[in-house]
Amino acid sequence: MKTIKIKIPATTSNFGSGYDVLGAALKLYNEFEVDYEPSNKSECVNLEISGEGEYELPRNNKNIICKTLLFALNKLKTGKYRFEIKSINRIPLTKGLGSSASARLAGLIAANRICNNKLSEKEILEIATKLEGHPDNIVPALFGGLCICNFDEKNVIYNKIKMPNDLKAVFCVPDFEISTDNARKILPDKVFLKDAVFNSGRVGFFISAINQKKYELLSIAMDDKIHQPYRKKLIPGADKVFKSAIKSGAYGVCISGSGPTILAISNKRFELRIGKAMQKEFSEHRINSKIIICDFDNEGFKYA
Ligand code: HSE
Repeated sequence: MKTIKIKIPATTSNFGSGYDVLGAALKLYNEFEVDYEPSNKSECVNLEISGEGEYELPRNNKNIICKTLLFALNKLKTGKYRFEIKSINRIPLTKGLGSSASARLAGLIAANRICNNKLSEKEILEIATKLEGHPDNIVPALFGGLCICNFDEKNVIYNKIKMPNDLKAVFCVPDFEISTDNARKILPDKVFLKDAVFNSGRVGFFISAINQKKYELLSIAMDDKIHQPYRKKLIPGADKVFKSAIKSGAYGVCISGSGPTILAISNKRFELRIGKAMQKEFSEHRINSKIIICDFDNEGFKYA
């Protein structure tokens, strides 16, 4: 059997104001080992999962990585292969940290490798974004850094800037799940012009604050009027968790992706204090949570 090893970073998207537009990669990785050999039928015959989701995830062709791999092989009209996959999962599932983006990309990147890289990175990006429905986890998982993502008529357009290495991402991950589908369905179809102006201004503040290291702007920059006010209702105690993070020294705080994880951006001194303050606030609402502290990743996926 031949082997492909891939490492894909977790991602946090939105940063509050940048709904579906901003996303950044994190130094927290899922690792995939895909063993394959020609066969008369394309199928995943064995899927070994350790870490996050090891007891819940399907171990058959319904698993996102198998599904995407088989879908891509079919699309690429290549030969047939049987697979054995090992997946070491460090990205919590359905918590707003890009776990599904990582599995989809792993499937696509592995299929592409098998077909001698028929697809360009841009094509992988387009296919993965279509499957995922929005680009702001896929783009940073592929390219790393802070990615500003959008669409032109047909395609994903993006620009990447480096995340500074003096910032820490502090996540408080509560022990309940929110499906992205549900967290999108509760949002209104239309927004007020004044709210769109509010958010686009904040996105500008966010990018310039990161570029110029004006971190004191981040709390304003991560404010939002178009999705968090609705999503906070799905996260008991969210407002208090936000306040506790800021009070403990966070530069800014927001829901990570579609939640329920809360992200605080910190310097390298206060990260643990901020994490513990958020955890305490959740526990006052009888919610257990875990703290994950990581650096930002500027490289994106890698072959291991
Ligand atoms: N931008 C997407 C959302 C991210 O907020 O629905 C989902 O992880």
